[in-house]
Amino acid sequence: MTEPVTGAAAQPDDLDIEATLRPRRLAEFVGQPRVREQLELVLEASRRRGDPPDHILLSGPPGLGKTSLAMIVAVELGAAIRLTSGPALERAGDLAAMLSNLVPGDVLFIDEIHRIARPAEEMLYLAMEDFRVDVVVGKGPGATSIPLDIAPFTLVGATTRSGALTGPLRDRFGFTAHMEFYEPAELERVLRRAALILGVDLRPDGAEEIAGRSRGTPRIANRLLRRVRDFAEVRADGAVTREVARAALTVYDVDELGLDRLDRAVLSALVRGFGGGPVGVSTLAVAVGEDPGTVEEVCEPFLVRAGMLARTPRGRVATAAAWAHLGVPAPPDVLGTPPALF
Ligand SMILES: Nc1ncnc2c1ncn2[C@@H]1O[C@H](COP(=O)(O)OP(=O)(O)O)[C@@H](O)[C@H]1O
Ligand SMILES: [Mg+2]
Repeated sequence: MTEPVTGAAAQPDDLDIEATLRPRRLAEFVGQPRVREQLELVLEASRRRGDPPDHILLSGPPGLGKTSLAMIVAVELGAAIRLTSGPALERAGDLAAMLSNLVPGDVLFIDEIHRIARPAEEMLYLAMEDFRVDVVVGKGPGATSIPLDIAPFTLVGATTRSGALTGPLRDRFGFTAHMEFYEPAELERVLRRAALILGVDLRPDGAEEIAGRSRGTPRIANRLLRRVRDFAEVRADGAVTREVARAALTVYDVDELGLDRLDRAVLSALVRGFGGGPVGVSTLAVAVGEDPGTVEEVCEPFLVRAGMLARTPRGRVATAAAWAHLGVPAPPDVLGTPPALF
């Protein structure tokens, strides 16, 4: 199955372009005013003291700017950044090698930190707290552990599932930023900035139309802009107007709320197959032929935010808005819709 154009995870053809479009400085980073202000204080205080700042945890759904922010932290500190990820740190030795190569003030970025293997995680505790690692030499009863000092550094961890982090690891971050979905007006700014960099003739009504369908996610906004640009160049005169954006996004199966085929399949299974729920996420995932992780981490955060799906202790439940969106008459006891946030 090809990735839907509305997938929030990075896709192969995003990578080059994202490097071009990534904001480099905090001032260029659109939206997230709270996170930006808090981070500004953390960074400024650290600059004044001349010490590395507290370890920083960035949590939130994919595509909201966690990796961009991690890089910005390093740039703002005038520090080098080393990049790795939870799944890459399978053995404690992999992490020990990275840690012992740090120079003072470095930023170590661990993406998907909730997926770090347990031995590496335990090594990280001591490294974060005391800038020390215990290297175990030998095996069995004769093994000894040799303490090794490492350079003071700042860990920036990113996670799409902060709930999956263990308590001890979470506690060692001095600062946690919860990234929120973006408001349409913020996405319009993201789009205008990208259009300027890419040389796209993006009209205000075109920006508004794309922003409204971007699921609160800059990565998706930038990708939709590229698809709409293709359409504008091939089927129109190159200008991205509302009309062109609408026609293009219909071709790509993105509806006016930004729901794609998988979202609609999930809602449809929930409403038509399970009478609106409650139903467990794994049952729902089987019904749409996706893995539960994708449904839980990719579809659900947006459907919840759009007020269409509720996560209850007994399972997933479709709200009145979901029934209405599918055009199916809702039963009388259907869950009400919270007021739309966007
Ligand atoms: N606040 C923002 N301002 C401008 N562009 C952004 C912002 N956040 C994300 N982007 C764009 O979205 C892309 C994906 O962001 P990224 O930092 O990789 O997200 P994450 O790591 O959370 O998945 C970036 O390359 C950038 O083009
Ligand atoms: Mg990332």
